[in-house]
Amino acid sequence: MELGIRSPVHATLFHHFSNSLLFPARLTLLNTTSSSFMATHLHVSSEEFDPSPSLAIGQHDLLIVGPGILGRLVAHNWRQEYSGCQVFGQTATTNHHRELTEIGINPSLKWTKASLKFPYVIFCAPPYQSSDYLGDLRLAASCWNGEGALLFTSSSAPYDCNDNGLCHEDSPVVPTGRSPRTDVLLKAEKIVLEFGGSVLRLSGLYKVDKGAHAYWLEKGIVESRPDHILNLIHYEDAASLSVAILKKQFRGRIFLGCDNHPLSRQEVMDLVYKSGKFSKKFEKFTGNNDCFLKCLFKHSNAGTTLVIVGTLRFSMISN
Ligand SMILES: NC(=O)c1ccc[n+]([C@@H]2O[C@H](COP(=O)([O-])OP(=O)(O)OC[C@H]3O[C@@H](n4cnc5c(N)ncnc54)[C@H](OP(=O)(O)O)[C@@H]3O)[C@@H](O)[C@H]2O)c1
Repeated sequence: MELGIRSPVHATLFHHFSNSLLFPARLTLLNTTSSSFMATHLHVSSEEFDPSPSLAIGQHDLLIVGPGILGRLVAHNWRQEYSGCQVFGQTATTNHHRELTEIGINPSLKWTKASLKFPYVIFCAPPYQSSDYLGDLRLAASCWNGEGALLFTSSSAPYDCNDNGLCHEDSPVVPTGRSPRTDVLLKAEKIVLEFGGSVLRLSGLYKVDKGAHAYWLEKGIVESRPDHILNLIHYEDAASLSVAILKKQFRGRIFLGCDNHPLSRQEVMDLVYKSGKFSKKFEKFTGNNDCFLKCLFKHSNAGTTLVIVGTLRFSMISN
């Protein structure tokens, strides 16, 4: 059962949310103490590292801008695909450099400011830590050498769907000017697409201790309607999906990543309760006429959408 949900390559990713709550130990990255590449010759330490222009970059080396939860899982998966490759991580601060080094990621604040070019670049830093997110995106894109792939992990927020209805890769996006949040994401996406990179719009990310359910559990009583539909994606699946897209070397494409198992807020919290894994008790949703904030993602079964979303869509690009 657990194996069945660990990889979205399997044709049945349904009930993913409930399964992962039942198997909270499925996040295995932290057990990864050995690495095919440790940064011995780079003298990486918790001090800031100055990227050397003479550093040799291999054909499968990967730069991760924003090696947080998702980025580290991507690094783990990437090294499984390409043992011996180098993985570089650019962060906003040096706070996590030591732990990144320990898991085989070469950390720096400056990879994208060096003259180095990388065959694979993934940008998975959220917007909130940067005063110039678009500038960061531009720098990251310009250090891609154009050979492998460039991928930006965006959000599903730009989709202009607010009625609990269907939403797919080609659904209309929020018009410019309506929301600063979506404006920034759409501009960021445009930069990446102009460079020939691709965009992965992710629905809400979760793992056992992080995500909407964890937030609601913490609050206990939530002033939102219980019947709002969510379609989330587990961090591990988002990482697998990102790696699959990188490997396929897509150019200029927009993908939607969600696990194709829509649940209402209430259903999510019912599963949390049934899992027996959480000591806190969620009380209730109290909203009844607040609007549907963001609907979404029931995957269109029409077969016309381009890729992704769990099940069959995912296997299309992972084969
Ligand atoms: N969370 C969600 O529900 C959700 C939904 C849709 C899409 N996404 C997207 O999914 C991606 C991954 O999210 P996550 O939860 O894995 O993020 P996360 O764990 O919060 O990642 C934070 C990492 O990004 C680094 N960082 C932040 N701003 C940076 C910048 N401007 N330049 C370089 N590094 C920067 C941080 O550096 P430090 O180590 O110095 O702190 C840290 O390593 C993001 O692109 C996010 O926007 C998230």
